Amino acid sequence: MLNLCMIAAVGKNFELGKNNQLLCHLPADLKRFKSITYGYPVIMGDKTWESLPIKPLPNRRNIVITLNNNANYEFCEITHTIDDAIALVKNDEKAFIIGGATIYKLFINKIDTLYLTRIDAAFEEADVFFPEINIRKWKLIAEETYDKDEKNEYPMKFQIYSKI
Ligand SMILES: NC(=O)c1ccc[n+]([C@@H]2O[C@H](COP(=O)([O-])OP(=O)(O)OC[C@H]3O[C@@H](n4cnc5c(N)ncnc54)[C@H](OP(=O)(O)O)[C@@H]3O)[C@@H](O)[C@H]2O)c1
Repeated sequence: MLNLCMIAAVGKNFELGKNNQLLCHLPADLKRFKSITYGYPVIMGDKTWESLPIKPLPNRRNIVITLNNNANYEFCEITHTIDDAIALVKNDEKAFIIGGATIYKLFINKIDTLYLTRIDAAFEEADVFFPEINIRKWKLIAEETYDKDEKNEYPMKFQIYSKI
């Protein structure tokens, strides 16, 4: 049965990005993102697709959601509704909603598992935010602390939540 997952990195105020880019460069988080999603379909919004430095994300089915019926991007599957996106992965063991803000909001009540990186920093310049979550609906099932180091400017917590 499909385990529909969401994965995001957020600042202290649930900031997600600015100017269609991530807030900061955290190689340890990017490595974690790759290891968690590798081999599974990833579902993303049109703007996140545009923002990717490498398209498609390798060894993952890249599924892009857009309202534009004429969209014809290379190297990905295109879909226009959340139900159609879910139908594309219904036979997979896992699939990941990978952003951005609009797509997280559309899917937040549909997912089973939430992988959150909590960056221990605030980003005043952020222009997109993670949707509000009802904390009573989620159980923290794993948490790992990552201290800042020479390559990662901020400390982080890697958390996994499961829908209660
Ligand atoms: N921190 C993180 O973990 C993380 C992860 C991913 C992204 N981000 C950041 O998030 C930002 C991008 O987020 P965003 O909210 O601007 O864009 P987005 O969620 O990536 O994509 C939004 C697009 O989705 C399509 N869309 C909107 N509503 C829809 C609906 N009801 N059904 C189908 N498609 C719909 C539209 O595409 P069309 O305009 O083509 O119709 C819209 O422009 C960037 O700054 C990015 O770096 C952060």
